Amino acid sequence: MNSILHLDSSPRGERSRSRQLASNFMAAWRDLHPDATVTYRDLRQTPIPHITEDWIEADFTPPELLSPELREQLKLSDELVDEFLAADRCLFSVPMYNFSVPSNFKAYIDQIVRVGRTFTFENGQGKGLVSGKKVMFITSRGVEFSSGSPFEGLDAQEPALRNIFQFMGVTDIEFIHADGLDMGDDARKRGLDEAQSKIQKLVVDW
Ligand SMILES: Cc1cc2nc3c(=O)[nH]c(=O)nc-3n(C[C@H](O)[C@H](O)[C@H](O)COP(=O)(O)O)c2cc1C
Repeated sequence: MNSILHLDSSPRGERSRSRQLASNFMAAWRDLHPDATVTYRDLRQTPIPHITEDWIEADFTPPELLSPELREQLKLSDELVDEFLAADRCLFSVPMYNFSVPSNFKAYIDQIVRVGRTFTFENGQGKGLVSGKKVMFITSRGVEFSSGSPFEGLDAQEPALRNIFQFMGVTDIEFIHADGLDMGDDARKRGLDEAQSKIQKLVVDW
């Protein structure tokens, strides 16, 4: 049985291009997998709190030594990790903010990167504990990062996302970028059309 976690992170609602593209992806994917279980999470509707000093203490305390208070610190994180681990596939829609990800999606990442649950340390090295999962990112970005663009080399979004999901053990990671969305009508249309055709191509075997 296929299961998918679809998460939108744009603080914008109907104006959000990343939400729209992810919704298009999901509609096409569901046509191909009518029996799949879909879990939807919207960081706009349900913001994720930043981690705190108590949270960090709880994260690095062995589970059998957690006091009820420290256990409570990890309650939401446990739910988010359970949800993330339960899905065979994750579709994350993420705008680019300040060359990286919005802070709400970073807060989500901070909650799911958990010692003993999604990674561990072995011989002083991090070791991912997540396996058998496909992760797809649909991003929306105001400018273009292609070769020759003034922004070439400044994309800190894809590398950060690749690094942290690979760190947790995910090996199957895809990106669909919609670029140039705030560079005028022609660039926006080009960026959205290119993203849409990549959706149609990738959704078939995903
Ligand atoms: C606070 C903020 C920061 C942004 N920073 C960048 C940036 O660094 N690079 C970029 O290409 N676009 C940037 N943008 C443009 C957005 O990525 C673009 O408008 C995108 O469509 C937003 O996603 P959404 O339409 O799903 O809300 C920024 C937009 C906002 C509101």
